[in-house]
Amino acid sequence: TIEAVIFDLDGVITDTAEYHYLAWKQLGEELGIPFDREFNETLKGVSRTESLERILTLGGKQDDFTPEEKDGLAQKKNEHYVELIQHISSDDLLPGIVSFLDEIKEAGLKIGMASASKNAFAVVDALGVRHYFDHIVDAATVAQSKPHPEVFLKAASALGVKPELAIGVEDAAAGVTAIKAANMFAVAVGEESMLGHADLIVASTDELSLERILERVHV
Ligand code: G6P
Ligand code: MG
Repeated sequence: TIEAVIFDLDGVITDTAEYHYLAWKQLGEELGIPFDREFNETLKGVSRTESLERILTLGGKQDDFTPEEKDGLAQKKNEHYVELIQHISSDDLLPGIVSFLDEIKEAGLKIGMASASKNAFAVVDALGVRHYFDHIVDAATVAQSKPHPEVFLKAASALGVKPELAIGVEDAAAGVTAIKAANMFAVAVGEESMLGHADLIVASTDELSLERILERVHV
């Protein structure tokens, strides 16, 4: 039986996925590489440096910058992003998230986080939800970006739970791939068109219910 639920942060717990989009979009425009929300779907869940590479490649500019210049560009994006998350509070928790976390706690399951963001702890603290998490893995301790399963596997291991007894919750295509590669049950929040490889898809976070998910898990 299931022993843990491991959450992605951006776009699942709070709508910082939108802020990442706005910050990358601003950098993209400064570089003369405009992009739309559809392209942004391919950035979701992907690390800062890898996201920059994808944007530069989109504009055919991947060879125009030295590694140092690329670091500068990634830093600039992060400055835009940090500016946008300045005023985050518990009001920014997505609908239904607190009751879902409470439901998991009351059921006696462990709660983990697997985030590709170096800003994960800052965001979790600003939201006031750190106490819910038995363990948080952020980008600082992970070598391989989603869709690689490393971040989910590290979270499960820190929780002392076998991957096949964990549920992962994601909003990103790369994140769902990472959960499946980790051999966990994948719950996706968002549109079927992007997230069809998940085991269960809900349109919005307020549809997340442990009871309903467990009806679908067979372990
Ligand atoms: C998450 C987001 C991505 C973001 C990545 C790195 O996975 O979904 O959009 O690029 O974290 O975030 P960071 O805060 O380290 O730049
Ligand atoms: Mg996400």
